[in-house]
Amino acid sequence: MRALLTAIAVAIHPGLAPGMAAAVLLVGAPGAGAGDDFEGRRRVMVGEIRVIARDVGPVAGKSAIGTEVLSVMERVPRHLFVPEVLRSHAYEDRPLPIGFGQTISQPYIVALMTDLLDLQGGEAVLEVGTGSGYQAAVLAHLARRVHTIEIVPELAEISARRFERQGYMTVSRRQGDGYYGWPEKAPFDAIVVTAAASHVPPPLIAQLKPGGRMIIPLGNPFFTQILMIVEKGRDGAVRTRQLLPVRFVPLTGDH
Ligand SMILES: C[S@@+](CC[C@H](N)C(=O)[O-])C[C@H]1O[C@@H](n2cnc3c(N)ncnc32)[C@H](O)[C@@H]1O
Repeated sequence: MRALLTAIAVAIHPGLAPGMAAAVLLVGAPGAGAGDDFEGRRRVMVGEIRVIARDVGPVAGKSAIGTEVLSVMERVPRHLFVPEVLRSHAYEDRPLPIGFGQTISQPYIVALMTDLLDLQGGEAVLEVGTGSGYQAAVLAHLARRVHTIEIVPELAEISARRFERQGYMTVSRRQGDGYYGWPEKAPFDAIVVTAAASHVPPPLIAQLKPGGRMIIPLGNPFFTQILMIVEKGRDGAVRTRQLLPVRFVPLTGDH
């Protein structure tokens, strides 16, 4: 029980600033970190994700993260998505500040949200809340196309440079309020919202394909939220399921 509570406490942290697919990537593939100085630390991080998944499993409804997702996270260089002064902390299983009051999410939560999308490789995915760009980079290895929206102009700019520098050609990004989705690129097979909303944005439901799935933290943006799965049936009917308590930074904007 103690291990479970500890794991949930860790999971509850994802977006909160503390105190403030190819299964195998080739060297030279986008974001391939294989062979860099952080390889060992990435392996340890993935080991920790496995343990948390096992402990949180009964709550999250998933006691293991898929091997393809873990394999990607073992290779995407998270240290290149955090401010340089925090690089030595990049592979700890916790969120880190990325400036402008925002955070890069806890690796376990990135793994869980990615795994829950159940990507097969051919999907068009929308991410709301680009932040550092790390989640989009992970998704890019598992889906055909990733579209990501960030509301903070500076973060949108920084992540755009990262995608370019690291060769993420299948990621398109824009600055704006992701509450409204990206109608020109819709519909999407999968949507992941990485900031806390008080309700599921209707434009996102409209832009989800029948048979598609959205993962979103819902609840009071300033306290704890519940990670939810929103599924749109082939007949267009929408069903929601609650997963586990989490804490993300708020979904902002005028909506
Ligand atoms: C927890 S961080 C996301 C972490 C990110 N996915 C990553 O991998 O680094 C949440 C991000 O959502 C952004 N955000 C908040 N409200 C938004 C909105 N309405 N539209 C788009 N982005 C938003 C924040 O500025 C922040 O960068």
